[in-house]
Amino acid sequence: MDIKGIAEEVYRRTGIETTERDVEKVLSGLAGSSHFWEVVCAARKPFSVVAEIIEILKQTKLVKVDEQGDISFTPEGMEFLNSSRIAPRKDYTCPACEGRGIGLEKLKELLQKFDEVTADRPKAIIDYDQGFVTTRTVAGRIALMAGRGDLEGKKLLVLGDDDLVSVAAGLSGMPAEVVVMEIDDRLVEYINNKAAKFGLPVKAIKYDFREKLPEEYVGYFHTFTTDPPETLEALEVCMGRGLTGLSGEGCAGYFGLTRTEASLKKWNLFQQLLVGKFKVAITDIIDDFNHYVNWDYLLESIRDDYTFVQVKPRLNWYRSSMYRIETLSGFKGMENRSVPCELYVDKEALIYRPGKSVDKEKKVRYIKN
Ligand SMILES: [Fe+2]
Repeated sequence: MDIKGIAEEVYRRTGIETTERDVEKVLSGLAGSSHFWEVVCAARKPFSVVAEIIEILKQTKLVKVDEQGDISFTPEGMEFLNSSRIAPRKDYTCPACEGRGIGLEKLKELLQKFDEVTADRPKAIIDYDQGFVTTRTVAGRIALMAGRGDLEGKKLLVLGDDDLVSVAAGLSGMPAEVVVMEIDDRLVEYINNKAAKFGLPVKAIKYDFREKLPEEYVGYFHTFTTDPPETLEALEVCMGRGLTGLSGEGCAGYFGLTRTEASLKKWNLFQQLLVGKFKVAITDIIDDFNHYVNWDYLLESIRDDYTFVQVKPRLNWYRSSMYRIETLSGFKGMENRSVPCELYVDKEALIYRPGKSVDKEKKVRYIKN
């Protein structure tokens, strides 16, 4: 099978459009690393696309998988690489800032304080698709918002906060007020306790973003930040709520979007919504800005029919790009009413399993094809 054939077969199996360049990127990643999660991280393609490409390479005996789940090329595979002119991937990311383009020297104290204050943070749970970011990522978000003039003296809305950005923002002493709207009772209580204990201008309330925004917060904030679930519907509703919370033009929204659970096709549709429907400008997209700490439930929540996938990650492989959007005159939020919406599962989701319904106890309502 040639590269074109592999791309076509991956599309047939996953239903996600796959190009010859995608296959080349995975081959190049595999030539540079034998660790599945490192290849997924580097490929910047949906999880199931990367996994299917490797599965096909395995079935056609171009790669082999050892008992530890490490993947390596067979002699035929090496020949295939050479004849296709594919070289091992090289990483040129700036090691000092991990590619964010932000120096954290001025926030050293905040980093330390944040780690101390949040040492007893609640564990990430599958019910709400949680997985929180590293401390350096949190500090990077604070620095990014502050550097763009969206934090100091401003009112900040945090929509969903397992990352505890609100606590970091409060500890930084910069924002005038921070309101967290969060569905998980554990986090609402945790954040309010920390705010009381350390005298932070932070308040958390229980909120499900499928519900209308509390009236007193419509048009109230200068800035919102969120880490939305990545079905197109959830992205749309989440942005709608955030923008509805903003007080006018020149305000900003920040959020992460992955490549692992969102194909470029989805990126395109979503960007059209941002620009066309919500009428905002996209001012920044910083690749690989958000690094997530590995969460306990990963391996039990994903497919177990690939031999190379049920391997404990050796790096913080799950990443997302940081978007910043800015409101223009005539920008639109959404009508402030409740809407039903599929939050977590589509074909590109990490926990999607073809042909299997999702465990009801995991509170995922249905699979959308
Ligand atoms: Fe750098």
